[in-house]
Amino acid sequence: SGLITLDVGFKNTGSTTSDITFLDGEKGILRYRGYSIEDLCEHSTFSEVAYLLINGELPTAQEFDKFKSDVSRHTLVHENVRKIFDGFPADAHPMGVLSSLVTSLTAFHPESLDPNRDHEMVDLTIHRLIAKLPTLASWVYKKSVGHPLMYPENKLSYIENFMKMMFGLPVEDYDIDPVLVDALDKLLILHADHEQNCSAATVRVVGSSQASLYVAISAGINALWGPLHGGANQAVIEMLEDIHANGGDVDKFIAKAKDPNDPFRLMGFGHRVYKNFDPRAKIIKKHADAVLDKLGINDPLLEIAKGLEEKALNDEYFQQRKLYPNVDFYSGIIYKAMGFPTEMFTVLFALGRLPGWIAQWKESRNLGQPISRPRQVYTGAVARPYPTK
Ligand code: CMC
Repeated sequence: SGLITLDVGFKNTGSTTSDITFLDGEKGILRYRGYSIEDLCEHSTFSEVAYLLINGELPTAQEFDKFKSDVSRHTLVHENVRKIFDGFPADAHPMGVLSSLVTSLTAFHPESLDPNRDHEMVDLTIHRLIAKLPTLASWVYKKSVGHPLMYPENKLSYIENFMKMMFGLPVEDYDIDPVLVDALDKLLILHADHEQNCSAATVRVVGSSQASLYVAISAGINALWGPLHGGANQAVIEMLEDIHANGGDVDKFIAKAKDPNDPFRLMGFGHRVYKNFDPRAKIIKKHADAVLDKLGINDPLLEIAKGLEEKALNDEYFQQRKLYPNVDFYSGIIYKAMGFPTEMFTVLFALGRLPGWIAQWKESRNLGQPISRPRQVYTGAVARPYPTK
């Protein structure tokens, strides 16, 4: 078997070549298909970015129209999926419900199970996933507050439709606030891909066994759920609320994070690759100020977050370890201002990351990559006799 190189956590192991996302952790650069996230946030929409990631190029007007109509015709979810959904408790964590429902789609669209599916079939699955995830996500929220589920409205844009399914009610008109739509659009663009992160790597690994795209995405949702990955956006707000409830004493929490005997970490701080700053966090921080301003919301958590950031950035412990605020540090404050409950934050991350996962899966399959199967160094018991009486 030869010599095995150990790299626990894959800190220095490349698992693939990729044409999708470029990331320079030292310079704080993030580009999708060569376009900077700054430019994409300024000029593009989330739907265009989804097309770009999945297909490699920005769409022409005609291609974009086709893409939008290909997606919107699949926004309804089979009514029997709803029966599965009905069995979940109303207080179930949305991420577990979402990944289960995405897996359940294999039963309603079994053509996705065929490893020899042609391009058209693959595209159909991709369009279904992009179309149905917002519908499912809104269901989970509606159930948690005891409201009737909303049906999609295909004449609305992707984000408008999602906002209406989330916050609209059948008994009254829902005024779509363009400020909120724009803010969510930008946030989803910033989350759309991040090369070989834990969930994207998971999607590629599951896809490598030629399992259905639905289950690969479902696995990605589950990987994202953890507090060290996408779950950090929920954990940040919970941490800020905790600090607030403790009289706003930031120093105490910084000391806890530095204590080697305390497992507590500053949520929303640090990154495996970014060692100078996270370019997404820079853009989000600007938006947090703007959105709260426009909505006339004065959230004490924003002040606590800013204070915490400043203290940490001036602290030797964080400086030595190159720990900076990451994408999750300010995103939750915006989501909260928009009216999303904390438990939905990671679902929003999943909605944003979906095109990236799809692009990663597609690239891996198009390259015909072999099944992912790492090796190990065995450290257990040597051969020993079975104890007999
Ligand atoms: N607070 C306090 N100390 C930290 C933190 C933190 N947030 N992050 C890292 N450290 C310390 C860590 O204890 C270690 O110290 P030492 O060398 O003394 O043992 C050193 O910094 C290096 O950390 P690491 O755990 O070896 O680094 P990693 O690359 O394995 O982990 C990370 C990266 C993002 C998981 C980690 O920084 C972390 O747990 N951050 C908090 C959770 C978080 O915000 N996650 C979101 C990541 S970005 C978006 C996403 O993926 O969803």
